[in-house]
Amino acid sequence: MARLNLLEETRYEKLPVSVYSNQHEASVAVANRIADLIRSKQAKGEKAVLGLATGVTPIGVYAELVRQHKEAGLSFKNVITFNLDEYYPMKPTAQQSYVTFMYDNLFSHIDIEKDNVHIPDGTLDKDEVVAFCLAYEKQIEELGGLDLQILGIGRTGHIGFNEPGSAPNSGTRMVTLDDLTRRDAARDFGGKADVPTKAITMGIGTIFKAREIILMAWSKKKAPIIKKAVEGEISGDVPATYLQLSQHVEFVLDADAASELTRFDTPWLVKDCVWDSQLKKKAVIWLANEINKPVLKLTEEDYNNHGMAQLAVEQGPVYNINIDIFNQIQHTITGWPGGKPDADDSQRPERALPAKKRSIIFSPHPDDDVISMGGTFIRLVDQGHDVHVAYQTSGNTAVWDDDVLRYMEFAIDFTKSIGEDTAHLQKSYEDMRAFFPTKQPNEIDTQEIRNVKGFIRKTEAISGARYAGLQDDHIHFMALPFYETGKTKKNSVGEEDIQLTIDLLQKIKPQQIFAAGDFADPNGTHLVCFKIILAALDRLKGKEAWVEDCWLWMYRGAWHEFETYEIEMAVPLSPQEVIRKRNAIFKHQSQKDTPVFPGDDAREFWVRAEDRTRDTAQRYDRLGLAEYEAMEAFVRYKF
Ligand code: F6R
Repeated sequence: MARLNLLEETRYEKLPVSVYSNQHEASVAVANRIADLIRSKQAKGEKAVLGLATGVTPIGVYAELVRQHKEAGLSFKNVITFNLDEYYPMKPTAQQSYVTFMYDNLFSHIDIEKDNVHIPDGTLDKDEVVAFCLAYEKQIEELGGLDLQILGIGRTGHIGFNEPGSAPNSGTRMVTLDDLTRRDAARDFGGKADVPTKAITMGIGTIFKAREIILMAWSKKKAPIIKKAVEGEISGDVPATYLQLSQHVEFVLDADAASELTRFDTPWLVKDCVWDSQLKKKAVIWLANEINKPVLKLTEEDYNNHGMAQLAVEQGPVYNINIDIFNQIQHTITGWPGGKPDADDSQRPERALPAKKRSIIFSPHPDDDVISMGGTFIRLVDQGHDVHVAYQTSGNTAVWDDDVLRYMEFAIDFTKSIGEDTAHLQKSYEDMRAFFPTKQPNEIDTQEIRNVKGFIRKTEAISGARYAGLQDDHIHFMALPFYETGKTKKNSVGEEDIQLTIDLLQKIKPQQIFAAGDFADPNGTHLVCFKIILAALDRLKGKEAWVEDCWLWMYRGAWHEFETYEIEMAVPLSPQEVIRKRNAIFKHQSQKDTPVFPGDDAREFWVRAEDRTRDTAQRYDRLGLAEYEAMEAFVRYKF
C-alpha cells in the first residue's frame, strides 16, 4: 500500500510528490540526496549502489554531481552503478548509446572506478541476452540491492524501457520499444527508421526492490503522463502506476510537469481558492466543458456540484459570473488582428491606432509563420498593414538528402543551359552522391550540403510569404548562428543572435510583433528563438521610444494550442481563408508528405494546422459563442 495521504489538497495523488519551481532546483535537490547517500555510506565504509537513468531528464542531476565532485570534493570511489537500460543492438561507441551518454554526462568527469559501472550490453548475441540479464540481476542482489534508483518517465508511462503491458514483477530482459518511444528517440537517431526496435531494460520488479526510488519529470510535455501515473488507477497500460504500490517512492517534478495534477489544474476541486479573474475564467470554461453546456446555461447547482460553490457564494449570482465570462471570451474574437481603424477599441484585443501598423512576424523555422498563423498573416497584409516576416533560423537540418541531389541536378542543368562551366558544381554533386550512402544516423552534413538545404528552405519561405502578399524587401532571413551546428543539438544563444535581432527590430520599429511562444518543449528551437526576441526587446526597452508602444503576441507552433481560457485574441478564418492558408503551407514542399522531424504526430503540417484551428473554433462554439470555420489563437506577452 502507498503511504497514507492525509492532505485534502493531495487527495487525488496516490504517491508522494514534491514540486519545485523549476527543473534546476529540482535537479539540485535530487543531486543533494544522492550526494548525502554517498557520503553517509562513505562514513560507514560502505558502498553506495545506485540505479541510474539516461535521457534528458537526469542531465541536470548529473551536472550538479559533477560540480560537487569538482568543487566540493564529492568522491565516487565507493559508488557502484547500474544503468536501467540500453538500446539493442547498440555499439557502446555509438553517439546514441547509453554508454556514450553516461560517460559524456557523468562518468568521464568523476572519480568512479570504471569496473564499478554497469550498463546493459547492446553488443550481445541474441542467445546470450537471457544469461546476461540473469547475471545483471544477480550482481545487484549480491551487492545487497540498489540503495537508490532514479527514473525518468516516457510519454507511454514507461520506466526504464518497461513499456505498457510490462508485468509488475518483470526482471531485466529484452523488450520491444513502443512506437511513441521510438518517435521520441527519433531526433537522436536522425529519424525514427534508425531507432532500434529493441532494448535491454531492468524490469519493474528490479526497480521495485530499490530501497529508495525517485522519479523525475520536467516540462509540460510530461504533464499528461504524470497525471496518469500519480492520480490514475494502477494498470499495466501505464507501467509507472505500479510505483503507487511502493513504500519508498517519490516523484520530483517541476511546476510544468505537475501542472495537470488536480491541485494545480483544477484547484477548486480540492481546496478553497483565491478567485482572481484568470482562475474564474478557467473554472467556468472548465465547468462548461465538463458538463457539456454553453457558459450562459450554467446553473448554481452546476457550480455547487463541481467544487465551485465558494465562487458562487463569493461572487454570485452565477448568472452574472456567466455573463461576465461570456463577454470576456466574446471580446477576444476579432477579424482585425492589426486593430480595427475608427472603432472603439476599449473591448478589442488590439489598438485601433495607428490604423496601419508595422508588424513583424518572427518565424523560428521557415514555415512556422504560415503553419501557425497563416490566416492572420494574410489578413494583416490584406488589411494594409506594413507586414514583415523574419525567419530566425535556416531550418537546414530538416531537409531530406535526396532533395539536395534534386536541386543540385537542377543547378547543373541550368548552368549548362546558359553555357557556363559546371565542373565545380559537378564535383560537389559527385562528392554528395558519394557521401550520402555512407552517412551514419545523425552524422553532420558538409557545409556545402547544409547550405543547399538552407537555400531550399529559403526559396520555399519566400514563395510562402510572397503568396501571403509580401514584397521581397519585407522578407528577412536571419540565419541565427546558435542554430548552425548541423545537428539536432544546437549551440547556446550568443551575443550575435541577440544583436541580429536588435538590428532588425531597430530597422522596422514595429508596433506589433508575432512570435512563437511555445513553452512545452523546453529545449526546442521555438523557445530559444522566443527568448532571443525577449532579450533583444529587454535591451531596447527604456532606450527606444517605439518599444513602449510595441505589443508582443505569441502564437503556438504546430503541436499545441493555447487553452481556451488563456486566449486573448482569436482571429476567425472563413472557409476561403483556410484554403489560402493551406496553399501558403504547400509552398514548403520539402516539409510536405513526410518531414524529417514530424514530431510525434503522423499528420502533415497543413492537416495539423487545419485540425487545430477548426478545433479552436469548435471550442468557442461549444461555449455558446458564434460558430466559425476556424480560428487562430494568440496570447499577449507583456514584457
Ligand atoms: C532512460 C530510460 C527512460 C527515460 C524516459 C524519459 O534510461 O530508461 O525510461 O527515463 O524515456 O526520457 P527523457 O528523460 O529523455 O524524457
